Order: sequence, then structure tokens, then C-alpha cells
Amino acid sequence: SQFRIAVIVGSLRKDSFNKKLAQALVRLMPAEFSAEFSRIDDLPLYNQDDDANQAEPVKRLKREIAAAQGVLFVTAEYNRSIPGVLKNALDHASRPYGQSAWAGKPAGVIGVSVGAIGTALAQQHLRNVLAYLDMPTLGQPEAFIHAKDGLFDADGNIGAGSRDFVQGWLNRYLDWVRKQNA
Ligand code: FNR
Repeated sequence: SQFRIAVIVGSLRKDSFNKKLAQALVRLMPAEFSAEFSRIDDLPLYNQDDDANQAEPVKRLKREIAAAQGVLFVTAEYNRSIPGVLKNALDHASRPYGQSAWAGKPAGVIGVSVGAIGTALAQQHLRNVLAYLDMPTLGQPEAFIHAKDGLFDADGNIGAGSRDFVQGWLNRYLDWVRKQNA
């Protein structure tokens, strides 16, 4: 495949809706894209004292981001912001100063929640961080997905009611990744 997408899920929960959404999105990607899930569950808590001696999982995350042509964030909303585990990962791979892995990587932001506003505020907070990290981030379309029965079918694909919407969002993101890498 021509383009590698690093997928980062902002939830560590085993049965995470966001993980399911990410897996369904990956299945909808055309053949010129490959997707790799970047783990964030084994990163230590960020401590600036370790900048000169980053833990192996941190180095792995940075290598995965460096090798990607785009980064897809699929995140839960916790208390109207991004989960701490996601911020921890963002902070780790932004360091040491001047050696951030994130800069210039085209980002997509999507998420699903059980709340009525479907991660809108988490996404907004995430956009703020990504802007500082110098990640060009797809502005439109936005996708705020509400976890309801039927969102996923029995095979874990996006259910019929949301399939066109999710595929449409993904197509726009991937087209834009192509352009950003041209
Ligand atoms: C939540 N949840 C939640 N939902 C939401 O829409 N807005 C919010 O601010 C919060 N806040 C929040 C805080 C904490 C600590 C938890 C554990 C949960 C509910 C959340 O949407 C729900 O747990 C989802 O299932 C989380 O996503 P995953 O883990 O299914 O991907």
C-alpha cells in the first residue's frame, strides 16, 4: 500500500466503542491504505525527567508515527475532554523538545460516545493540542457519533443506518491524506 495510517484509540477499555469504530474504519479503507494500530496502553506516565532516556514503548510509538503518512485519532470523551491516556501519548511522542514525532502528520479526528454530543468537546480539545503540535487536521466533515443499538452489525461493521455517513467521512479524510502527501 502507498499510505500507512497510524490509528490511535483514545480508550483502553476491552469492549471500547471507539476501538470497534476504529476497527470498522480500517476495514473500510481502500487497498492503497494500510492501517496500524499504535498501542498507548503500555506507555509509562509521562515524566519530563525521562526525555533523554525514553522508554522502549515510547520509542516504538514515535517510530510508528514517523513511518505513517497520516494519524487517525478515534477517541472517547471523558469529562468533556480527551482521556488522560491519549494526552499521555501525545505528550510522550512530542518530546524531547524539537524531536516531536507528530509535526506535519495529517490528522483525522473522530469519536463515539454514549452521551448526546458524541465526543464533540473531546474532539475540540484534541484539535487544540494537534494545532500546537503542528499537525494539519481535517476540518470538515466532522463526525460526532452516538453509540446506539445498531451502530455496529453482528460482524462489527458499521450498521446500515450509519454506513454511508462513516464511509463518507473516511473517504474525505483519506483523499485529504493523499493530497497532504503529494
Ligand atoms: C465518560 N463518558 C462520557 N461521555 C460523554 O459523551 N461525555 C463525557 O464527558 C463523558 N465523560 C466520561 C468520563 C469518564 C471517566 C467515563 C469512564 C466515561 C461516557 C463514555 O462516553 C462511555 O464510557 C464510552 O463508552 C467511552 O468510550 P469507549 O471506552 O466505549 O470507547
